[in-house]
Amino acid sequence: MPVITNIDDLKRLHRKRTPKMFYDYCESGSWTEQTFRENTTDFDQIRLRQRVAVDMEGRSTATQMIGQDVAMPVALAPVGLTGMQRADGEIKAAKAAEKFGVPFTLSTMSICSIEDVAEHTTNPFWFQLYVMRDQEFLKNIIQRAKDAGCSALVLTLDLQILGQRHKDLKNGLSAPPKLTPAVLADLATKWTWGLEMLGTKRRGFGNIIGHAKDVDDPSSLFKWTAEQFDPRLDWGKIEAIKEMWGGPLILKGVMEPEDAIMAAKTGCDAIVVSNHGGRQLDGALSSIRMLPAIMDAVGDQVEVHLDSGIRSGQDVLKALAMGAKGTFIGRAFIHGLGAMGEQGVTKALEVIHKELDISMALCGRKSVEDLDRDVVLVPEDFTGRWA
Ligand SMILES: Cc1cc2nc3c(=O)[nH]c(=O)nc-3n(C[C@H](O)[C@H](O)[C@H](O)COP(=O)(O)O)c2cc1C
Repeated sequence: MPVITNIDDLKRLHRKRTPKMFYDYCESGSWTEQTFRENTTDFDQIRLRQRVAVDMEGRSTATQMIGQDVAMPVALAPVGLTGMQRADGEIKAAKAAEKFGVPFTLSTMSICSIEDVAEHTTNPFWFQLYVMRDQEFLKNIIQRAKDAGCSALVLTLDLQILGQRHKDLKNGLSAPPKLTPAVLADLATKWTWGLEMLGTKRRGFGNIIGHAKDVDDPSSLFKWTAEQFDPRLDWGKIEAIKEMWGGPLILKGVMEPEDAIMAAKTGCDAIVVSNHGGRQLDGALSSIRMLPAIMDAVGDQVEVHLDSGIRSGQDVLKALAMGAKGTFIGRAFIHGLGAMGEQGVTKALEVIHKELDISMALCGRKSVEDLDRDVVLVPEDFTGRWA
């Protein structure tokens, strides 16, 4: 077993062990990938203040996100096609999250269905909703999430239409993959992946096939999804979904203070400052850069979470120090899954936890609740002067 010391180690293994089509699907942003790159490089600009002679015994990273206990404020973000990175990927990731004590969020576009994940876990998980035009499907999937005991609905606001990721088009991304000569040549070197895939029946979009009208196989599914993402989603529809769901609600994909104010007005439980990991609007600023303005706008009204660009426990610490109450990780846990299945997701969480705990201690703080702006050094022009 290789020695894993950081998320980059898992990323290298992920690349080696997963078909190119799915690795590329994970490791890409839209168009020029500027936002995708800056999500991580902007974290690097923030530095930490080393403090000494502070009693560091009895530290804890435990806290709450939307009133739910978490071992550290790091949830697994919704990631479509997780079950293509590794067979039964959503079940494996959900189990790792459950054992670690952090929330798992199941994507609408998952391979394993809501019911399947519920059947293989004991703790409630969060369900991420993409709003579709088909009202019957929408009502039905919300009801299915309720029936499965999901403890929060994460409503994604930044994907009414799909951002273009060049690699997906060039690779002919599909689930399951079409067995072209290039794909077969690639699979020949990824045999563990292939064997595990042959051993599972979960190879299509489990939440959709058999649940949406006239979608019974992968080919009808692609047509359906292309037509179904609802471009008409607005604040009125968000209110209606809030009513329909009736439980804890997290609004994901908020990047501007004006939108954060609108989101807070809905009475949601949290917002996620997120640019979808740089996969939607290329040219948007990184989410860590937008965090201060959003904290100023709504920090006293609603819980603020952040994702996009987190690759270490130090990144988590920086986001918390700048006001976020919680964070989400996407690629960081997918690298773990692609590298080593459930064990790899656990490893990713352990790496992040250790980095958070040690950095927190060296900054002279004993709990994540104590992290504040004094912990970090932020360049004066970090948020930038944009007109
Ligand atoms: C491969 C991939 C698939 C994703 N699929 C979804 C999805 O189905 N629903 C959603 O709300 N966000 C989705 N996201 C965005 C993540 O939830 C999250 O916002 C993003 O990954 C955070 O950035 P990070 O990967 O840099 O941590 C996806 C991200 C990736 C990398």
